Amino acid sequence: MKNVLKLNEISGVVNEIFDMHGYNLSKDCKEPVAVLLRSYDMHGYDMPESVLCVGRAGAGVNNIPVSEYAEKGVVVFNTPGANANAVKELVICALLLCGRKITDGIKWAQTLAGKGDEVPKLVESGKKAFAGGEILGKTLGVVGLGAIGRLVANAAVELGMKVIGYDPYISIDAAWNLNHNVQKETDLNALLAKSDFVTLHIPYLPSTKGMINAQTLGKMKDGASLINCARGELAVNADVTAVLKSGKLNRYVTDFPCEELLGVDNVITIPHLGASTEEAEDNCARMAAREIVDFVENGNITNSVNFPNCSSSRTGKMRIAVFHKNVKNVISSVSDLIAKENINISSFNSQSGGAMAYALLDLDDEISAATVEKIRKLDNIVRVRVIK
Ligand SMILES: NC(=O)c1ccc[n+]([C@@H]2O[C@H](COP(=O)([O-])OP(=O)(O)OC[C@H]3O[C@@H](n4cnc5c(N)ncnc54)[C@H](O)[C@@H]3O)[C@@H](O)[C@H]2O)c1
Repeated sequence: MKNVLKLNEISGVVNEIFDMHGYNLSKDCKEPVAVLLRSYDMHGYDMPESVLCVGRAGAGVNNIPVSEYAEKGVVVFNTPGANANAVKELVICALLLCGRKITDGIKWAQTLAGKGDEVPKLVESGKKAFAGGEILGKTLGVVGLGAIGRLVANAAVELGMKVIGYDPYISIDAAWNLNHNVQKETDLNALLAKSDFVTLHIPYLPSTKGMINAQTLGKMKDGASLINCARGELAVNADVTAVLKSGKLNRYVTDFPCEELLGVDNVITIPHLGASTEEAEDNCARMAAREIVDFVENGNITNSVNFPNCSSSRTGKMRIAVFHKNVKNVISSVSDLIAKENINISSFNSQSGGAMAYALLDLDDEISAATVEKIRKLDNIVRVRVIK
């Protein structure tokens, strides 16, 4: 039985995965092989020596000292895209909120409380103030076509919208999964000029901070709306409120309320509900549990934030996983030691990224403990695991 330590409450859906592989998940266990958490702050945490990996059920890893763990050969996993559908659904809701005065109408309907039998008549006479437009046939500009953006783009096509996508760094996987009706745009300003609705799905980076500002807002079509379920810092709020006031921008729907946006006409603030669904939490937990099990059982790395992705099917009698600094000649020294035992390497997969590199070597015979020790003692080796 292998133990997994949970540092937060985690969706019960993981039990099925852990049970199947004979793992025990608990808040308090001895010699855990892995740690599973959501937002627990691991900075300064006294990590048990036995831990091989950390699974974060979610995308952000600010709560985990990822570089420090890389130095120890502890792999940190996250679950990118596991909440993508939840965010997509909120964006579809935001699109409808932009087109129709639904939130204003709901607020107004509440003011009719106490008017008794008059309410239906008052509704019929007052509703014209809240008439809006449809999204069918309108143009949606999607900025960023990653896990969320491509789902939004595809769903909008299904809803009968014309969709334009802009993503200079689109992954091959995202491109394969994009509906062929999504038109490619290579110039952000051109997308802004053509779209009735613009939705942001890019990461917050120094290069994207304040990307929506007076200059880019000025390129937007008159009367267009903007949706931001990505990160608040992507937009300069003062510039957004100024173009709303001028009437050039119709609505701004954001999942990131802040003081300067609250109570501003035509700003709809959603209290960061993008990923807040039971299903998203279940998906994140499941993905993290699968990543942990595949790593502990096979050494495969998928969705790590401190080691390169590296996976392959098992061949041979045993596998050794070598964690090392991303410098020259480490793997040749490892294979020289294996060759001295006259053992054939049946499969070899080596990947590097940033400061770290990782290799999986499948061997046709069992290597001696003495040779494994020699590999461990080579320069620039961080960790060696023998996986039988
Ligand atoms: N509202 C929420 O609760 C919530 C939940 C999850 C994610 N998010 C946010 O949604 C955003 C997208 O998340 P994701 O999971 O789709 O990320 P992702 O990494 O899968 O996709 C991001 C895409 O943006 C593209 N990109 C990067 N820089 C760009 C630029 N300058 N112009 C155009 N495209 C650019 C990348 O090539 C990539 O395809 C992130 O900002 C994330 O923080 C919000």
